[in-house]
Amino acid sequence: MASSSEHAHHEESFMLEMIPLQDAEFEAIRKFVHQRLGIYLTDKKRTLVSSRLQRLLSELGLHSYTEFFERLKADTSGNLLDRMISRITTNYTYFYREERHFQFLEETVLPELKAKLASSRDLRLWCAGCATGEEAYMLQMILMKFFAGEYAHWQAGVLATDISPRALQTAIRGVYPLESIQRLPKVFHRYFRKVNRDQVEVVSDVRREVMFRRLNLIAPSWPFRGKFHVIFCRNVMIYFDNETRQKLLRHFHQYLAHDGYLFIGHSESIRQGGDLFKSVIPAVYQKKDVGR
Ligand SMILES: C[S@@+](CC[C@H](N)C(=O)[O-])C[C@H]1O[C@@H](n2cnc3c(N)ncnc32)[C@H](O)[C@@H]1O
Repeated sequence: MASSSEHAHHEESFMLEMIPLQDAEFEAIRKFVHQRLGIYLTDKKRTLVSSRLQRLLSELGLHSYTEFFERLKADTSGNLLDRMISRITTNYTYFYREERHFQFLEETVLPELKAKLASSRDLRLWCAGCATGEEAYMLQMILMKFFAGEYAHWQAGVLATDISPRALQTAIRGVYPLESIQRLPKVFHRYFRKVNRDQVEVVSDVRREVMFRRLNLIAPSWPFRGKFHVIFCRNVMIYFDNETRQKLLRHFHQYLAHDGYLFIGHSESIRQGGDLFKSVIPAVYQKKDVGR
């Protein structure tokens, strides 16, 4: 085991070896990330990018971003790209984020869908850009809380997708710091169990109902058979450029069931998607039927 002085020494040498990110290199990375992920790295993100990739370069024993970029292009396994994606994406999220949405789901959307889907009992929710899983588990807990004893008689569940392999790993594991559920209303605490002094785990009854899958939202087609009644895609499109956002909105529209709901982040808007969606409450939209 490394002693703390060794650790400090390592940190120090790491700090000393800051690899400069040249203008052309940043441009190349920006273009690549935009093409592959739809994420547009603004000039303001430049320091963030270099600080996030710095460690990866050191791990690979590389001394310049040009070398890194060459490796990235030559890597056919997709391994290096995955490692880069895990570093470059912002996976910030927390339980009960923008809570008004969860209340609206439980108080308005689910009662409506329960009545509407009474004969098929098939209810599909998609959490697109689920990061480390908190939002997807929230949706599942709300489904179970709402349906209670009837849940078993429904084909209901949550599909949760993200592009980041590292975030998905955390999501699937379902283990979080104890303080992450402190802001969560007590009624939801029964869906967690303590694993040790500082960590909790989402109980397996909840975990097994959420299907986590890797999916690039900007892929030209999605591998889904059915349509979704509810899509949550919050705080994901903020990283995309306008054109990518518009394409994605059209795609969501196509994959939403009749009158289906789209939830986006409170700081986002879909002004240009006005012909596809009608606004319901802040950052919640409902599919409009458009003639084909
Ligand atoms: C800030 S998190 C949002 C998490 C959660 N939805 C919330 O609102 O708290 C944004 C997530 O979008 C994912 N993401 C970014 N680009 C993506 C893409 N092209 N396809 C799929 N997911 C992507 C990132 O990996 C990240 O986990």
